[in-house]
Amino acid sequence: MGKFYDTTPIYYANDVPHIGSAYTTVAADVLARYHRRLGDDTFFLTGTDEHGAKVAEAAAQHGVTPKEYTDRIVAHFKAAWRLLEISNDYFVRTTDPRHEAGVQAFLARLYDNGEIYKGKYEGLYCVGCEAYVSPDELVDGLCPVHRRPPIVYAEENYFFRLGKYQDILAKAIADESDPNHYEVAPLARRNEVLGKLRVGLSDISISRASLKWGIPLPFDPSQTAYVWVDALLNYVTAIGYADDPATFARYWPADVQVVGKDILWFHAIIWPAMLIAAGVKPPKLVFAHGFFTVNGQKMSKSLGNVIVPGELVERFGADAARYLLLSEFPFGVDGDISLPSFVARYNAELANDLGNLLNRTVAMLNRYQQREVQAPGAATGVDEDLRTLALDTARELRARLDRLEFQEAIGAVRGLVTRANRYVEETAPWTLAKGDRSRLATVLYNLAEAERLAAELLWPFMPGASERMVAQLGTQLGLGGGWRGQALTWGQLPPGTKVTPKPTPLFPKIER
Ligand code: MSP
Repeated sequence: MGKFYDTTPIYYANDVPHIGSAYTTVAADVLARYHRRLGDDTFFLTGTDEHGAKVAEAAAQHGVTPKEYTDRIVAHFKAAWRLLEISNDYFVRTTDPRHEAGVQAFLARLYDNGEIYKGKYEGLYCVGCEAYVSPDELVDGLCPVHRRPPIVYAEENYFFRLGKYQDILAKAIADESDPNHYEVAPLARRNEVLGKLRVGLSDISISRASLKWGIPLPFDPSQTAYVWVDALLNYVTAIGYADDPATFARYWPADVQVVGKDILWFHAIIWPAMLIAAGVKPPKLVFAHGFFTVNGQKMSKSLGNVIVPGELVERFGADAARYLLLSEFPFGVDGDISLPSFVARYNAELANDLGNLLNRTVAMLNRYQQREVQAPGAATGVDEDLRTLALDTARELRARLDRLEFQEAIGAVRGLVTRANRYVEETAPWTLAKGDRSRLATVLYNLAEAERLAAELLWPFMPGASERMVAQLGTQLGLGGGWRGQALTWGQLPPGTKVTPKPTPLFPKIER
């Protein structure tokens, strides 16, 4: 048993959540659920990023104060995460007084450590990015991502000495024995970060004199903290950096910080540097996943192709929505999703393969053995095949989840389900029922046990469906002491278990 602390980015509270943020959140939720299955002392954090120009602007457009506005948006985020069965242990808001006090404590530490100095900033700032942009990044004078002109800033700011961390960070990433070692994954992202470090780092402005919607600096309340500095600190304030040293020591450093590739720079460079500067260890792993398009197009309001989590849940249910988001393409790369492809995958993999396997097993146990799973007899080659694959699948799933290979983890369980369906054809229980009752008992036991294992392994992805599966099998998850006990070994299902008298479709087929 160990501890596991994972986080999502905190999402801007300038608009309601869409399935882009759901993608990251579901992935981080799967990791948290996996570690709970392992029995780890798990803490899973998500939340909202509520300060800064972008949110202030959205609030002004709606004619309300930023706090009123974000209260409203936060309710949407919480509702969406509830719908998707997100099991976060805490929801942090950067407007929480606790977070604000934590940010001030952290910045006071940096200031005392000589890591912050006053200087003059002149340059361009994109409110959409909440980041400085350099003139050569602009296309026709506009930010290429947000297609809006940057603001020209010229003011006295406080600066963080990021520049001096260039070699320190490069070594911390490359050298596993470095006391500040942290990992950046996947490999392409790690190389990207190391490449940027080779080019060099400049000090960064970390405050604003002109923006009031933020946290005042403890050493100069006339300025507010730069929104990214404020936001990054959520990962430590939420676990008690400033007010609960015991909890902080229990969970920090974070085991995995899941982010999209768009915010890698902040998480893999600025964040570790801030931590090291304050005498705090960097997270163990920053994992940057890819971005998806919808039908080949970027999801955007102006294109009218934004999908919200509620829509997916309504069509597919929470379990399938989670499964579909993570099975379309590998987690570390870019991909494309579409509703027609979700429908096809849902029908093929969930309604047919997984749903039918359960259905026919439960139906046969009803028909041939008065619902009762009976003790298996001696195994034959084909039984051994199924068992070996089931155990290999359990091992593979764990290895895949350790590397955030969600699509491949799901693929492993699909392999088992496909094999079990073929096992039904190979053993033809309907024929055995006419003569070899002892062989029939063995086959039905093996089927039920393979499904119990599949349900166990699918739980992090589809907690509700997994529980419905074992309920129909007349058993429960976590037999034999959970995932670090016997639950993932073969033969845990006790003979005498009675399956449900009425098999119900796990995933009803969808027409379109
Ligand atoms: N508030 C900052 C993060 C601060 S963390 C200290 C922010 N917020 S955001 O609302 O813009 O969320 C960005 C994140 O949403 C991305 O990093 C990614 O995790 C997720 N995604 C948004 N659109 C996405 C896709 N189209 N595809 C995949 N992930 C997407 O940045």
